[in-house]
Amino acid sequence: MKAAIFHGPHQDLTIEEIELEKPAAHEIVVKTAATGVCHSDLHFVEGLYPYQAPAVLGHEAAGIVEEVGEQVDYVKPGDHVIACLSVFCGSCDYCLEGRPNLCQDKPGRAAKQRPFAKWNGSDVSQFANISSYAEKMLLHENAVVKIDKSLPLDKMALIGCGVITGAGAAMYTAKMEPGSSVAVFGCGGVGLAAIQGARIAGARQIIAVDMLESKLAYAKDLGATHVVDASGGDPVQKIRDLTGLGVEYSFEAIGNKQAAEQAYACLAPGGTATIVGMVPVGQTVEVEGRTLLSEKKLQGSSMGSNRFRRDMPRLVDFYLQGRLKLDEMVTRTGKLEDINEAFRAMKAGEVARTVLIPD
Ligand SMILES: NC(=O)c1ccc[n+]([C@@H]2O[C@H](COP(=O)([O-])OP(=O)(O)OC[C@H]3O[C@@H](n4cnc5c(N)ncnc54)[C@H](O)[C@@H]3O)[C@@H](O)[C@H]2O)c1
Ligand SMILES: [Zn+2]
Ligand SMILES: [Zn+2]
Repeated sequence: MKAAIFHGPHQDLTIEEIELEKPAAHEIVVKTAATGVCHSDLHFVEGLYPYQAPAVLGHEAAGIVEEVGEQVDYVKPGDHVIACLSVFCGSCDYCLEGRPNLCQDKPGRAAKQRPFAKWNGSDVSQFANISSYAEKMLLHENAVVKIDKSLPLDKMALIGCGVITGAGAAMYTAKMEPGSSVAVFGCGGVGLAAIQGARIAGARQIIAVDMLESKLAYAKDLGATHVVDASGGDPVQKIRDLTGLGVEYSFEAIGNKQAAEQAYACLAPGGTATIVGMVPVGQTVEVEGRTLLSEKKLQGSSMGSNRFRRDMPRLVDFYLQGRLKLDEMVTRTGKLEDINEAFRAMKAGEVARTVLIPD
């Protein structure tokens, strides 16, 4: 089958023929119907996070089950699924506590450092327990949630990472109350989903922050009540001008140290900043100790603190009711061969999301 191979940082991915391993007892083979291009993959291509090459990147996907291992009973061939990198074991302390996104015994091939395919006889690493830039994925059954066959798989793919991450950060990690004031830094796929999550959760004021007017326009369409263009200098004062004391909840959806610090700085006393973006390895996020006296909080979020088998079907319902807008977030589609172009377009800020549809 065809897959986009990652050869190491600062190199284009290339499309190659690889051979998928056979599914083990609890694994399934899923035909990749659609895969979104999330900035997390780009962080690895840019060398800001390390990864073992050769590998197949991609982790935001939906597809159709083709084959199941002998002990799989959750799905059968023909079922439609959304994949999620928050694969869970179901029996570690975190899973039992109801925080499966923090599972410490993830059963995926990437987590167990087991190759999932061969390329020219060499092992290929799986990425994020998914590897969706390929015609097929080899997944643990606990990495998918079933969805109705009538749903559009190109939109469902976005739920697999960007949407659950952004919306979940607002709804589950921050647990914001209705009527809150919110600032979202970065209006790409994840930030736009955070804006929508805040809207669905009943935020009163949603301030979108980005460097690009085109992104701020998407943000307004998807629920922002105010926008701040950060290209004109420090956005913190502009947020204070709009709010008085600052916001109750802020979200950083860029992966930028400075923006993470701004997300904390723009909080009102007692407020909570949730850092969703992947700040480059080795960089610190600093806060002035004195400011903690006003009970401001800084926290991280992994995949929107999801329990995806419960939460993704809820997001699907919001989509069907018109409350979660996904059609508007797919601003470009392409084939697997368009992956390098999709990274370029993302870096240039030309898209909310590109979705690739393998042949
Ligand atoms: N924590 C998690 O579980 C998780 C999951 C998925 C993605 N992520 C991370 O979330 C981040 C966002 O991902 P994405 O796919 O939405 O990326 P994206 O590239 O689509 O969006 C980033 C946006 O930030 C804007 N931006 C860049 N620098 C800025 C600045 N200094 N101030 C304001 N805006 C700025 C860009 O114009 C762009 O609109 C990435 O770091 C990604 O790795 C984290
Ligand atoms: Zn992602
Ligand atoms: Zn677990």
